[in-house]
Amino acid sequence: MAVLLSTKAQAMKAWRDALLAVDPTLDIRMFPDAGDPAGIEAAVVWTAHDMAELRRYPKLKLIVSMGAGVDHLLRPPGPPPGIPVARLVDRMLTTQMGEWVLLNVLRFHRQDPDYRAQQRDRVWRELPAPVTAERRIGILGLGELGTHAAGLLRGIGFPVMGWTRRPKAVEGVENLHGPDGLRAMAARSDILVCLLPLTPETRGIVDASLLGLMPRGGFVINGARGGHVVDADLLAALDGGHLAGAALDVFQPEPLPADHPYWSHPKVVMTPHAASITIPASAAPQVVDNLRRAREGRPLVNLVDFSAGY
Ligand code: GLV
Repeated sequence: MAVLLSTKAQAMKAWRDALLAVDPTLDIRMFPDAGDPAGIEAAVVWTAHDMAELRRYPKLKLIVSMGAGVDHLLRPPGPPPGIPVARLVDRMLTTQMGEWVLLNVLRFHRQDPDYRAQQRDRVWRELPAPVTAERRIGILGLGELGTHAAGLLRGIGFPVMGWTRRPKAVEGVENLHGPDGLRAMAARSDILVCLLPLTPETRGIVDASLLGLMPRGGFVINGARGGHVVDADLLAALDGGHLAGAALDVFQPEPLPADHPYWSHPKVVMTPHAASITIPASAAPQVVDNLRRAREGRPLVNLVDFSAGY
């Protein structure tokens, strides 16, 4: 089976080598050198790939996202009709995201922005001791990433809530769900962490009305997608003093334009969509497993539910 690979130039060879290490018999075509379109049975693609282009391959059986998120694959025109899409559920992606969330929760919890400012100004002053058991964390989304992050935070003693569309039991995590649960959770979240998939329902979920419910002095952490946050509303909440800080890994658009206010905002810490980066060697076995399943007509794993949008 020929597999079309399409990603950033610098990642292409690592992906090819990782897939071949799992199955040396794979015929890998690196986009745009697809060869005979009728030979392509699977496409392993990342965000920039044009979904309309995938309509050129008459024998395509499977599309695989090179990351956990699939919003880029589902936006119009979407994948060719009838072709299943799989996403990555990868331990290394989950681990990295957990670390990034922990880093930023602890950054805010331990008053690191204030201490950095004091260091800059050579100020020797102890701030009030932070109390872990009193810093309430609300996580938007209890999927693979949210559940893992919740476990890490709980492990060091934070009270953790998790919001989901439908009720979901996660040990040690207070679950709130639906529209009322969303408001109730925001009202009690000293730190609000977004790890949701981006769908039409979750786009702009972190807006002025949600931020306004948060306790004064709260923090927002977004490791999901830029589209979850209404930037003007977040900036207004930071500038108006309602929120004390934000840690952002994802933006709209990416790369974030050089003149965007986030870059130099004193209350914003940013990373360039680097919280969790796919490591091809870790992801390749599940991709090859799915390719074989597609070829043999066996059930696929980690399939995207088009009606849910993730
Ligand atoms: C990264 O953003 C991913 O979706 O894996």
